Amino acid sequence: MTELRPNQSTKLLQELHILTRDGKLNQDSRRKLKQVYHLFNFIEPLLKDLSLSKSDFTMVDHGAGKSYLGFIIYDLFFKEFGSGTIYGIETRDELVKKSTELARDCKFDRMKFLNLSVEQSMTDGSLPETIDMVTALHACNTATDDAIKFGLQKKSKYMVIVPCCQAEVASVLKRNKSQTSSSLSEIWRHPLHTREFGSQLTNVLRCLQLEAHGYQVTVTELVGWEHSMKNELIIAKFNPDTNKKKAALRLTELLNEVGLNELSERFFTC
Ligand SMILES: C[S@@+](CC[C@H](N)C(=O)[O-])C[C@H]1O[C@@H](n2cnc3c(N)ncnc32)[C@H](O)[C@@H]1O
Repeated sequence: MTELRPNQSTKLLQELHILTRDGKLNQDSRRKLKQVYHLFNFIEPLLKDLSLSKSDFTMVDHGAGKSYLGFIIYDLFFKEFGSGTIYGIETRDELVKKSTELARDCKFDRMKFLNLSVEQSMTDGSLPETIDMVTALHACNTATDDAIKFGLQKKSKYMVIVPCCQAEVASVLKRNKSQTSSSLSEIWRHPLHTREFGSQLTNVLRCLQLEAHGYQVTVTELVGWEHSMKNELIIAKFNPDTNKKKAALRLTELLNEVGLNELSERFFTC
């Protein structure tokens, strides 16, 4: 059963429609709450680790949407910790306005929402030069790739990514199908396979890219998200001992083998 945690803001949970106006758990939102808790279980130890070395740490949530994730993380961790800032990046202005109002009403003073694309946020002066943690939960299409690029540029110690579907890799696989003579191309000959393989390959390339930049990567299934095809969780931790060269080499070889050389800029290495 999904339980509310001690000290959770009732106002926040009502505004997120997790609690009804009379304080009961909304059955429709129960699953969403369970999912976010589950993700929070992965994120909490990373925040604790950050808090050991730094009090005023920063987190950016890309493709924040209604900022469910950011709000729950703030309520469960940042609020009591007493410092640290969460930034939500979102292209839909109405969602940014709503989240800004909700943060103000809940007195979550260290939550900021910016109406920017992930790409724009890389150069936007409202964000600090470095960001300690990046999250991207189902950030659409290549916004996930931009979130990774953002984390690399901002020297983030942690990146927690739950990718959405990405169409770019599958479309290049499809276009170059006839040019790939290797029997490997049978893996993506049928359109359904092109889409599925494209999706898996995209995440493999993302992991190699992260490793090539010195991150230690774990890939796991986000249990509790069974209803969604998009239930892969990638957690990357910067670790200077990672064998960057090997990953970069593997990435280049793989792009070459599957006829995706033109995407080498997307999955750039050092
Ligand atoms: C599928 S929703 C996920 C929302 C939220 N992270 C969640 O899991 O509940 C994706 C969100 O990303 C936003 N988005 C799409 N492309 C974006 C981009 N390039 N930069 C910033 N936000 C983007 C969309 O407007 C949408 O709100």
